[in-house]
Amino acid sequence: MNKQDRYLTFALGKGRLVDSTMELLKKCGIECEEITDKKTRKLIFTNEELKLKFFLAKGPDVPTYVEYGAADIGIVGKDTIMEENRSVYEVLDLGFGKCRMCVCGPESARELLDHHEMIKVASKYPNIAKDYFYNRKNQTVDIIKLNGSVELGPIVNLSDVIVDIVETGSTLRENGLTVLEEICPLSARVIVNQVSMQMESERIHKLINDMKENL
Ligand code: PRP
Repeated sequence: MNKQDRYLTFALGKGRLVDSTMELLKKCGIECEEITDKKTRKLIFTNEELKLKFFLAKGPDVPTYVEYGAADIGIVGKDTIMEENRSVYEVLDLGFGKCRMCVCGPESARELLDHHEMIKVASKYPNIAKDYFYNRKNQTVDIIKLNGSVELGPIVNLSDVIVDIVETGSTLRENGLTVLEEICPLSARVIVNQVSMQMESERIHKLINDMKENL
């Protein structure tokens, strides 16, 4: 296949980052209106003129598509990149989708954290939670994997604390919980397949530069 005929494929994480991502790509002269059409059941979208393809995937699957080369480029939150720990290049911080990964719980749980008690930690991010408690805090904890509405954990006594994303803090406030410790800041990032980075170096570097200039 002629190199110019090869499509560069983008995998985008479904959800909060899509609108800001499409807005940025639009500023870079890359249009793909269809992808934001909530009614469509179509999974993959093509820009024939620029030889680009786009698909939306569940956030945690984006690094998987990129590692295996099913997508050349991925746009996804730093939380997902840390949790999935795939072999991909992280090339650009897009600066939007800013939030924090935190240990949260009722104020009463602060004591348990300070005294390095054997606590129960509920999270959608078991790897991040494990790394934080075992490697950074040297604290042995019991990690319980949940898939959403993690704030329920301490409320229904499933866990003492949670490790979760805090954006505005309103979910915590409305449920009587608070930030107890901050793990790290988060934002949307661009990741690239390691082989694509070599094979399509020119096109990918141009895309990254265009994105940088339009942030
Ligand atoms: C995320 C996160 C918190 C909430 C934080 O959940 O897990 O629950 O957003 O945002 P806030 O600080 O602005 O309130 P999401 O809405 O993605 O859904 P989920 O709980 O089902 O994972």
